[in-house]
Amino acid sequence: MISLKKQGIAGTMKTACMCTLIGLASMANAAEPSVSVRHLASEQNILLVKDAKRYLLLPVQDNAPEGKLYIVVNNQYEGSVINVRLAREKVDYYVPLDLSAYVGQDISIDVQGMPESAVCWKKISLSDTFDTTNREKFRPVYHHTPAYGWMNDPNGMFYKDGVWHLYFQHNPYGSTWGNMTWGHSTTTDLVNWKFEGDAILPDAWGSIFSGSSVVDHDNTAGFGEGAVVAFYTSAKPSPWGDVQMQSMAYSTDNGKTFTKYTGNPVVTSAKRDFRDPKVFWYAPGKHWVMILAGGQEMDIYSSKNLKDWKYESSFGAKQGAHGGVWECPDLVELPVEGTKEKKWVLICNINPGGPFGGNAAQYFVGTFDGKKFVNESPTQTKWMDWGKDHYATVTFSNAPDGRCVALGWMSNWQYQGVLPTLQFRGSNTIARDLSLYRKDGELLLRCAPSPEMEKARKEQVLVPPFKVSDTYEIPSLFEGNEGAYEIVMTIKNSGASRIAFTLSNSKGEKVDMYYDVPREQFVMDRSESGKVDFSADFPAVTVAPVSATDNISLRLFIDRSSIEAFGDGGKFVMTNQVFPSEPYNKMSFVSGRGSYTVKSITVYKL
Ligand code: FRU
Repeated sequence: MISLKKQGIAGTMKTACMCTLIGLASMANAAEPSVSVRHLASEQNILLVKDAKRYLLLPVQDNAPEGKLYIVVNNQYEGSVINVRLAREKVDYYVPLDLSAYVGQDISIDVQGMPESAVCWKKISLSDTFDTTNREKFRPVYHHTPAYGWMNDPNGMFYKDGVWHLYFQHNPYGSTWGNMTWGHSTTTDLVNWKFEGDAILPDAWGSIFSGSSVVDHDNTAGFGEGAVVAFYTSAKPSPWGDVQMQSMAYSTDNGKTFTKYTGNPVVTSAKRDFRDPKVFWYAPGKHWVMILAGGQEMDIYSSKNLKDWKYESSFGAKQGAHGGVWECPDLVELPVEGTKEKKWVLICNINPGGPFGGNAAQYFVGTFDGKKFVNESPTQTKWMDWGKDHYATVTFSNAPDGRCVALGWMSNWQYQGVLPTLQFRGSNTIARDLSLYRKDGELLLRCAPSPEMEKARKEQVLVPPFKVSDTYEIPSLFEGNEGAYEIVMTIKNSGASRIAFTLSNSKGEKVDMYYDVPREQFVMDRSESGKVDFSADFPAVTVAPVSATDNISLRLFIDRSSIEAFGDGGKFVMTNQVFPSEPYNKMSFVSGRGSYTVKSITVYKL
């Protein structure tokens, strides 16, 4: 009560007789409360924060309905609404509300949609720190994950001065989708990532959906030479229909902080599902190109100064798969292996409508004149990855040495919301270097593990001569088994119709993989891989076409909750999540009809 009087709101209390006030901190000790709550009628509440610290720690119940929070300073709302699943019956984890702008001040937080009976009121506290220590066994070791909260698409990726920057669709207030914000992580080796905080936050035009960044070397936009210019979709829900428009922000400190352009939005349209701008420089025409999803097509715009955009063309009618929304495009020029030729590849992420249900990334190969893309093989649908967990894949801008490096979100909208993690949800694939190769006259994408993955190898163990039907214990290869390793194998086939390999653990959980030689396919079955019952869409068998089955070369990247299989140096890729209750620690081959020889197996700790 002392604090109330000091804040001069006791009078208000008298008039609002339904209110209750609980001094939260004072319940734990006798000290003056620094956070207290007034409950108003019908799930309306006011949190009174006295002498704010850097963070207000909010208790979250992952499956509770969302409440709405608004920061109030001097009777005015500050910033945008924050949707948080505040704990009603139990606390699953905490998220930090950043109050660094108000440290030492008294502020209020308007909390709507939360009953007085919720447990959260007793658990909210102020703190100078927020602990992001990993305590979850499924958090990957060498894949990028958010330090906390939900993550979907990779956004705004660029390389500059030795640093790879990855922004991502982040919910800083929970491990379910919402409050879309660009989180930011950096790496110098594409393996060890550092969370840099949230870079672009929701504003009057809406939340911050997916997009891209460019390095404006020649200062075409006037924000400075080498400024990083980010393009994103401002997504504004409205009772009259949701609006999606394209906005921009620039950074003069290499992507650490961004200033939003005052002329936002820069590209608008009456189309639905108008989003995910990818911008790049088209050197022959000396202009910028923006490609973005516009309904069931990809729209192409051009600009000289990154601010004024002109519509040029649309691509997609009657091309490829249309079983879902077209999203997150990219358009890159790639060399054709073994020739001096280059071709353009249009990447089109689609959800649902992927070959195994849910999302996937298809691509088209053809020509591009700076204004219009023409697909050279309109009859074939081509997939970048043949697993269930590869989506929203786009490439880094300004990558060094002419490289084209792609990164995907390693999940599926079918079940990402219920994956068996809590404090974080979502991971990225490993980085992949893209090029084109020709097979039976058709140009196909090779997605090879980026060379950085070889540098990341910590310990190498050559498995001794391996007889088909041997079982090998993975823990004996290196001290401990954190479930994070790479297996590289070469196999000579001499007449076998099936070449089968199993990863398993002592709980009987397993992932079967095999080459079906007559069908020229690689198959992965995760239906008994561990925890699979959180979604009926999770147990699955995925199948990839394979070019060579005589001499097989396969690289498997196993992390705590994923397997990425790269055949023939990336001629096929298959990415699937798995949730074993303990790491897979055995590998074995199965002898079948015909014979084959395991020529080499190497296991690397990663
Ligand atoms: C793809 C996507 C994008 C959108 C973003 C929103 O996964 O739907 O089209 O910008 O997610 O988080």
